[in-house]
This record gives sequence, structure tokens and C-alpha cells, in this order.
Amino acid sequence: MIEEQGRIRPAADRSQQAQLWRLARGQGIGRRSFLRLLSAGGAAAVLAACTGVQLPAATPQATGDAAVDPPLHFKDTAPFIDHGGGNLEARLQDMQGLITPNRLFFVRNNSASLDLDAAGWRLAVKGDAIARPLELSYDEIRNLPSRTLISYLECGGNHRAMFDLVKGQPAQGTQWMTGAVGNGEWTGVSLCDVLTLAGIKEDAVSVLLIGLDRDSPEEGFRRVIPVDKAMHADTLLAYALNGELLPKDHGFPLRALAPGWVGSTSIKWLGRIVVSSQQLWTRNNTSSYTLIGADYPPEGEAPGKVATTQTIKSALALPWPAQLPPGESRIHGFAHSPAGPIVQVEWSLDAGESWYSAEMTAPQLQYSWARFGFIWDARPGENTIMTRATDAAGNSQPDEIPFNQKGYLFNQPLPHPIRVA
Ligand code: MTE
Repeated sequence: MIEEQGRIRPAADRSQQAQLWRLARGQGIGRRSFLRLLSAGGAAAVLAACTGVQLPAATPQATGDAAVDPPLHFKDTAPFIDHGGGNLEARLQDMQGLITPNRLFFVRNNSASLDLDAAGWRLAVKGDAIARPLELSYDEIRNLPSRTLISYLECGGNHRAMFDLVKGQPAQGTQWMTGAVGNGEWTGVSLCDVLTLAGIKEDAVSVLLIGLDRDSPEEGFRRVIPVDKAMHADTLLAYALNGELLPKDHGFPLRALAPGWVGSTSIKWLGRIVVSSQQLWTRNNTSSYTLIGADYPPEGEAPGKVATTQTIKSALALPWPAQLPPGESRIHGFAHSPAGPIVQVEWSLDAGESWYSAEMTAPQLQYSWARFGFIWDARPGENTIMTRATDAAGNSQPDEIPFNQKGYLFNQPLPHPIRVA
């Protein structure tokens, strides 16, 4: 415990202290000064000394200059299935490697992409569970210790169309097939470093992330995460994707990245963070991003089960339906789980009566998806291939998932239709 007893959350465990020391040493701060800073002001004081960030007495206000009449998105829409309303679905068959290139990365907007000016942008951090409300500029964020990780990002509604196609029970919302997912290398700062800088208190319960997209529901798309997820070192405030500055469509200048959680948690065009000592409820953990249906009992103020972590899934990197020539074809696909690396993907030609093991064809790093492949000697006619993934924690895709009205987290094995001719 290095913070003031009882007031500030114990932020720096041993590994964090070591990280802080490396940072301080790199900035020319000696061991004795480092320890003095640490005992006087905790991790926040060390970070402040390292970055030159002054902690303002603060009347934080989010700013950001949205362009007049912005387009729905900025990237070339040609590679995507355009669902309208700013929603661009990727085609998995275009993805050859492990990392999804920025130009092929799916876009899910609840209004329109923003064109923000980093110079005028500020991130405000406040709330009753924050001891030192603050406002950080883009440069101040960039000067904090950076962290890079590989993670897939998937919309909670990915595979939603399958409720209709596979179960004959359509769900509400954008009819995503298999491409509301991408796998990227994200660079940013740990959200916990920013919260530590702002003096997050012991009694913090909810961390509310708010975007600057005022035309979205709730005037700024927002999502609550529990303090434990927020304080996990791998929950990022990201400013780069795949070695490039975050593209506008993906949240420039700064977005959240919550590995393993439904994509709606990863707030783009981040403007405000509110830390509360109460459990917070907003649209996105009550009427939206909640599994509503007979099998999902209400949770708190939500009419069903709040969608938090993703579920284990696999999909073939083929158009739906696909067409292939007869003879041997190399088929590949992607599988991912929030609960650990994928250890096995099986495939079936007879609706799950018999299964064969696919080969895992690329190393699976950190929170990355896995790439798998197999050779199929295709006979002319109508075929269906199913795949089923298993992760290191022993989770497998279930044979059936119960219906939920808004069609989240569909993860039954997909019966992929393939015509061979
Ligand atoms: N953040 C803001 N500010 N506005 C949004 O509409 N959409 C969310 C999330 N963050 C959204 C947002 C949803 S539903 C998803 S799935 C992901 O962003 C998609 O991220 P991407 O568009 O970068 O792929």
C-alpha cells in the first residue's frame, strides 16, 4: 500500500512499483527521490514527476471539436459489407494473417465517426470516487508510460444474423454475420495509471467511460465497467492501432480497449471518465447490451443479464454462402475466447456427428484470436461445414444457446453453407 491510508486505492503492487521505478530512472530520477515521491504522493506523484503533468485543482470539462456534418465514416467502404448507419462489417476471407489491417478493421458506430482535433481535445477524469479530478491533454497522455498488446475486438452483436439463419428466430439490431470482429495491436496507456494519477479512492465501484459523439444515444456513447476491470493493467486507453495513430473511425485521438469484453465497452473518441462509489446504470448496461429472454433473469436495474465478457467462438474465413471448386481446398478461419488461448478447433461435415481436428496455423499472443486451417477434399454438391473451438480453460462452443431479444453473444457452431461446383 503506497497511497494515503484509507483514502486512495492501493495502486502500486510490486510489479507496478517496478514499472514506475523503470520509468522514473529513465527520466533521470534517482532512487532516493523516487522513494520519497512514492511515500509522499504514491504512484500519482511519481507519474507526475516523470511526465511534468501538474495536477490541476480542476473544473474538468470535456472538449472536442466535432467537424460540422461529419460523414458516417472516413475509410473506404469497398472491402466491407455496409449495413448502413456507419456500420461496416469485415469479410473474414480478406484476412490472411493474424493481425487485421486498419483498412479492413470493422466499424461499429452508434452515430457517426468524429473528426477531432487532438490539440483541442481533453480527457476529463472526475467523480465522487476521485480525489484529484483532472483534465489531461493529448500530449500529457502520450507522455505517460505506454503499453502495447494484441487483442481482438468484437461487437457483442457479432453473429447476430445467425439467430435468424440458424435458429429461425430473428433478433433485433444490425444483422452482423461473422465480420464484426478484428484483431489488432493496440498501444496506449493503462487506464489504471490515469485513475491512479487522479487519486482513485478505495470506495470506487463503477468507472463510466463517455465518448464525445453527441448524436449517439445518451449524448455520448457510454459504458460502465467495474473498478476491477478498469484497474487491470491491460485495460487500455489506446492512441495507436497496428503502429499507426488511431484512425478516426476507431476513436482518434483516444479510445478505451477492454480486452475480452464486448466491443461496446471499448469507448471511442473518449472525452470523460466518471468514477463513482455507486454501481452505475446507463442505457448500455440496462436496455442495451443486456441478454433479455426467458433464460436470462434480471440483474440489478437490467431487465436481463448484462453482456460483459465475450464468449468462445469460431468462424470460417469464407463468404456466406461460399462456393468452391471440387478437389482439395485449404480452408481457414479464426477462433477466440476471452478466457484463454484456443487449444483446439474441430470441424465437421455431418452436422456434428463426427469431428476432425484443424491445425492451429499462427501463434496466439496475449488476447489475440487464433487462426486455424485444414485441407478439405471437396465433392460437388451442397455442403455444410461446422467448426467448434475449445480454450485452455476447457470452455467449448455450446451446441445451443438460448434466444435473447437483441441477439448478443451467439456462439453455437455455425453451419457454414458451401456449394462445390
Ligand atoms: N464508442 C463511441 N464513442 N461510440 C460508438 O458508437 N461503438 C461501440 C464501441 N465504442 C461506439 C464506441 C461498439 S458497439 C463497438 S462494437 C466498438 O466500439 C467497435 O469498435 P470499432 O468501430 O473501432 O471497430
